[in-house]
Formats: sequence, C-alpha cells, structure tokens
Amino acid sequence: MPGSERSYGAYLEARRRDGLRRGLTGIEARDARTIRIGGEAYVNFASNDYLALRFHPALINRAEAWAEEHGVGSGASRLVTGNLDLFAGIESKVAALKQKPAALIMASGFQANASVLQALFDRSVLGAEPLVFSDRLNHASIHFGCAASGAREIRYRHGDAPHLGVLLSQYQGDGRPRFILTESVFSMDGDVAPLAEMGRLAREHDAMLIVDDAHATGILGEAGRGLSGEADVVIGTFSKALGGFGAYVACSETLREYLINRCIGLIYSTALPPPVLGAIDAALDLVPSLDAERAHVASLAKRFRLGARVLGYDTGASTTQIVPLIAGSNHAALSLSKRLRDAGIFATAIRPPTVPAGTARLRLAFTAAHTEADIEGLLTALDDRALPRSATA
Ligand SMILES: Cc1ncc(COP(=O)(O)O)c(C=O)c1O
Repeated sequence: MPGSERSYGAYLEARRRDGLRRGLTGIEARDARTIRIGGEAYVNFASNDYLALRFHPALINRAEAWAEEHGVGSGASRLVTGNLDLFAGIESKVAALKQKPAALIMASGFQANASVLQALFDRSVLGAEPLVFSDRLNHASIHFGCAASGAREIRYRHGDAPHLGVLLSQYQGDGRPRFILTESVFSMDGDVAPLAEMGRLAREHDAMLIVDDAHATGILGEAGRGLSGEADVVIGTFSKALGGFGAYVACSETLREYLINRCIGLIYSTALPPPVLGAIDAALDLVPSLDAERAHVASLAKRFRLGARVLGYDTGASTTQIVPLIAGSNHAALSLSKRLRDAGIFATAIRPPTVPAGTARLRLAFTAAHTEADIEGLLTALDDRALPRSATA
C-alpha cells in the first residue's frame, strides 16, 4: 500500500473522531415530498427542490420529448458541435427572467462559479490585480473560483453592508478593478443579503456586483425572478427551485462573448444533454405562473420559524424557505438529525467547513410539496416535551 493511502485513512479516522466524517446515503425518491432509506419512508426537509418541479409532468414530458428528438447527449463542448439549437431559446428565456441583455447556459452552479469567477478576475485581461470583496459566508464554489483566479478575497462580515463600505473606502482611489461578490439568499442560513445597499456601494465605488441567485431564482421575487435586480452579473442554477440541473450566467452581451472566449468550464466541458435542457425549458415556462406555490412555501417556512422559536430553537436570521436550526456542536447537530429521523423526518446535519465552527446545524428547506401537517409533525418531533425520557437525558 503506498504511504499516501495511509494518510487518507488517517484523515478519515480523524474526521470520524471529530464528528465530521461524511458519507453517501442511498436514497429512493418517487415523489417530491418523501424519500425512502433502507425501506423506511421519511418526509424530506433536506432538498432544494423548492417548487417541487422535479416530478412535474411538464418537465418530464419535455425531457422525454427532447431526448427522443435530439438524443441523450450533446456530443461535444458548446464550442465544438454541442451548441445545439436548443440553447438559444433557453438563453433568451433566462435573459428575460433575469432582465439582463444576455445569458449563457453552463453545466452546473459549481462549475459556473469556479470557472466564471476565474475568468472575470483574470489579472492578465484586467491589466491589474483585482480587488474582490466577498461575503465571508459565500458558497464554497465562489471561494473556489476566487482561489482559481489567484485573486485575493477581501472578506467582509456576513451580510454587513457598512463593513463592506468601510473596506471599499480603504482602497479608494487606488485604480484597481473592483468586484463585490455575494449570494442573494445564503444557502445555509436562509437570510438575504442587503442587495439594495450593496448595489449603491457598487455604483459609488465603480465595482462590478456579482450575485449568486441560486436559492432565490424561481422561488423568490416577482414572478420568481429571484432577487438579483441590482447585480451586474447573476450566476444561478437550475438544480434548485427549477427542479433539474444546469446553471446560467445572466449578464451583458460583451461579458457573454468574453466568457465564450475565456471561461474554461464552458470551453472544456461537454454541453448539457437535451433531456436536461428540456426540463430547464419547461421549468422556465412554468415559473412565472407559480405564485400560489411561492406563497405556500413562504407561509410554511414562516409557521415553522415561529413554532421553532417558541420551542427555544435558534433559527438564525432566516426569512426565506431555508431555515437553519443552529445546534452548536457537531455532535448536537448529528443527534438532532437522528432524533428527527427516528420520527420519520429527514434533515441533514450541516457541519464545518460548510458552516463556521461551533454553528453546526440542521438545514431545513421547505417546498411546495410539503403540507401544513408536515410542519406540525416536524415541530412535534422537535418538541422536547414530546420525547420519551431516555431521549431527553
Ligand atoms: C449558493 C450556491 N451556489 C452554487 C451552488 C452549486 O450549484 P449546483 O448544485 O448547480 O452545482 C450551490 C448549491 O450547492 C449553492 O448553494
């Protein structure tokens, strides 16, 4: 056995000791509300399918139809022969939804953040080292894209526009290109960035505002547009409220052309396959009409937040369909997750480095498939008074 193999084993053992070891659980899913694990059914509060579109017949039908008509693969990168005629229509729908001049479809949100940010912060193109002001709780793929570009991130306190303003002022007048990077809805906290204030700061300091709208597109904002109105560049994914897979960048025509020429995640990766594009296309057609679903999800999340707070739980600053229950230690989060599992409810424990040390949590996500009774069941399972004595000890 090579010595490196022993190092990997030792790493895994240390992760286990610290309650940080991750594993893959086999899941059966036949509808948007429940999952089965090892033959047991659970109400699923851990997926990002906020509009429950994953099983929607319109998406399935168009995915099937486009597979029949165009094949199950695209055959090559978009720059070779993979740029099927299907892309143009979808990109104009995305540009219209996001109210931007142009859009570019990419393979996944992770890939988009990793490679679009790398291309945008390219010092050799900008002619100077960029100044990248980034929320400290931004998604791992955002930090990864910054690291890949070699740009140093200047991290401001989470959601703290005044702090961002102070940092921007410190670099006032030094002439380097500036960028502000944030999620609109933070994936592990369910709170919303102060986007209006950030837009104002971006204009004041001649910075490009880049917003990852992954957790707002489809589920928040007028007609499901998301919350990225202030942004110069929006990055988002079709894998959450839009129920499928794939990602987009919404931006100016110039930036779209630049990315086609410079973004390695687009250039060196096979284009999305027709069935996936079919699901995206159908979801984009549906999203504007889903106001009732958006209102239902918002009301479930509100009811849950109120109930959880009454039970003494810390739901952080959530105002959206994502609600954390901040448990503190890794073991506390794991045992809360287990307790819910024993009650037929699935909620994953989220631990560092996904969230800061000491803030391990359950991340609950509400979807259009959940019912009010599901929320009451969840609150009952979280109520210590409802637990058998041995479980509270
Ligand atoms: C804020 C944010 N950006 C990007 C991604 C990645 O998107 P995808 O799942 O399409 O790779 C995620 C999801 O994990 C996310 O939460």
